[in-house]
Amino acid sequence: MKNQPLKALNNPDIPGVNLADLKVLMVSSEAVPFAKTGGLADVAGSLPPALVRQGVEAALVLPAYRTILESGYSWRPVIGNMPVPLGNAMLPTDVLEGETEEGVRVYLIDREDLFNRPNLYGNRHGDYYDNLERFSFFCHGALRLANALSITPDLLHLHDWQTGLIPALLKGPYWDWPNLTGMPTVFTIHNLGYQGNFGSDRLWVTGLSHSQFYHADGLEYWGSFSLLKSGIVYAHAVTTVSPTYAREIQTDQGGMAMAAVLRSRGGDVRGILNGVDYGIWNPETDPHIETHYTLRDTTGKGRCKAALLRELHLDANLMEAPLLCIISRLDEQKGFDLLLSAIDGIMETGAGLVILGSGKAWISHALSEAQNRFPGRMALRTGFDVNLAHRMIAGSDIFLMPSLYEPCGLTQMYAFKYGTVPVARGTGGLEDTVLSFDPPTREGNGFKFYSYDALDFLQSVQEAVRLYRKRPVWEQLMQNGMKMDFSWDRSAKAYTDIYRSIKR
Ligand code: ADP
Ligand code: GLC
Repeated sequence: MKNQPLKALNNPDIPGVNLADLKVLMVSSEAVPFAKTGGLADVAGSLPPALVRQGVEAALVLPAYRTILESGYSWRPVIGNMPVPLGNAMLPTDVLEGETEEGVRVYLIDREDLFNRPNLYGNRHGDYYDNLERFSFFCHGALRLANALSITPDLLHLHDWQTGLIPALLKGPYWDWPNLTGMPTVFTIHNLGYQGNFGSDRLWVTGLSHSQFYHADGLEYWGSFSLLKSGIVYAHAVTTVSPTYAREIQTDQGGMAMAAVLRSRGGDVRGILNGVDYGIWNPETDPHIETHYTLRDTTGKGRCKAALLRELHLDANLMEAPLLCIISRLDEQKGFDLLLSAIDGIMETGAGLVILGSGKAWISHALSEAQNRFPGRMALRTGFDVNLAHRMIAGSDIFLMPSLYEPCGLTQMYAFKYGTVPVARGTGGLEDTVLSFDPPTREGNGFKFYSYDALDFLQSVQEAVRLYRKRPVWEQLMQNGMKMDFSWDRSAKAYTDIYRSIKR
C-alpha cells in the first residue's frame, strides 16, 4: 500500500459527509470529549452538533493523540497507509473513524510517532520540538482525507495556527486536485497569542514553495513564517470568537504584530461569540456536582459549596464568606500578575479562594507560596481535572477573570449558569458577556474593571464581596446571570450564514 496513488483511496466504502445541502469538515487540534487543553476543545466539540441542529452536515478531523486512542471510544480503520508528505518524505498514515454521541462523525489522522504521545503539544521542557512537523503533517493528512471521502465536503472550517497551513496548501500543492480545487475555507482565530511562527529555513517542512509563499503578502512574518498568518491571508473567510476581540485585534495595541495583516482583509474579520453546551454545563443536570439546583431553587448550591470546602480541606466557616474561584491555564494571558499583586488585599476581605490551573511553573510556584500564607482559606490544585472544574464552578460564589486579554472566555459563561458571579476585566469576550451590576436598577450580571491595574481589580473584588453580604441584592445578581442564554444556536446560525456565502 505504500506510496499508493491517492486516487485509489477515493473509495465509495469510505463514508463521507452526506445528506444535507451544506457539508462542513471541521479541522481542529483538540475537541471535547476527546482531547482538551482549553476552550478551543469546548468549541470544536460543541459547534459541530449545533451545526447539525441547523441542518448542516458536520464532521471533524483530529490528530490521533494517545488520550483519544485510550479514551474508550471505538474507532474503525477506514484508510490504511494513506501517503502523506512531510518535508521531502512521503509517510504512510492510517485514518480511523468514530462517532460522537450526537452523531457527528470524527476522523483521526493516526501516525503513531507524531501523535501517540503523553500530551497534545509539549512536556515540562516546553513545546514538542517537532510541532511544525506534527501539524504540517496533520494539515496535509486532513486535506488528503477530504479528497478521499466518498462525498466531498463543501468547505473546511479550520481553527487556530495548527490548521492555518491548510488555506495555503490549497493554493499551492493541492490547487489542481480534482476534489479540492477551489475548496472554500473558514479560519477561526481563538487566540492571536499563539501564532505558529517558525524560522524561514524550515519552510520546506510544510511542502510550500519559497518563491510562491515566502513574501510579505504570504507567510513571511518579521523574518520567520507564520502558520496563523497563512490562515488569515489565504482563507476565504476569517472569524474570531467575540465581536470586541475582532475589533481589538485590528488595533496596533491589541493586534500582537498581526493587526496590519488582519486589517488587510478590508474589515471582513467577523467576531462570533462562542456558545455554551448546556448539556455539559448546567447545575440542573451536571453529574459531577454534589446536588443539583435550579434558577428557582438555588439551595443546592450551598450544599455544593459545603462539599467543595470539605474536599479542599478549607475552613467550614467560609460558608458565611464569599468563596472566590479561578479555573484557568496558568499563563500571563489570564492576569495572574494582577492576582498576585492584589492577593493580600483580596484575602483581607475575609473571602476564601480556590484555584484550579495548569501551565507555567512560575505561576504555580507563586500561587503555592500564597497558599501557604493563607492556610484553611486558600486552596490551589494544579493539573487538568475536568470533574473538579465542575465542582468548583458550582461550589463557589464569585469567579475571577482579570485577563490581560480574552478572545472569548468560556468559564465566565459557565459560571453565570451556576449562579457564580464573575469579576472580570472588560476585554474581548469578557466585555461582551459581563454586564456591570447597577444596584439602583438591579440590572447586570457581574463586576467589571478596565485598566490592567491591581488596585482596580482589588476594588472590583471588594465591591463584589460587599454586595455578597447583602443577600437579597446578591440573589438578584445570581439570578440575572443564571437567566443569561449563551446557547450555541445563534452562533451556529452565524457560522452557517458565512458557510453559505462562500460555498462553491
Ligand atoms: P482558554 O481557552 O483561554 O484556556 P476558556 O475560558 O475559553 O479559556 O476555556 C477554558 C476551558 O478549559 C474551560 O472549559 C475550563 O473549564 C477548562 N480548564 C482550564 N483549566 C483547567 C484545568 N486545570 N482543569 C480542568 N479544566 C480546565
Ligand atoms: C482561546 C481563548 C479563549 C476562548 C477559547 C475558545 O484559547 O483564550 O478566550 O474562549 O479559545 O474560543
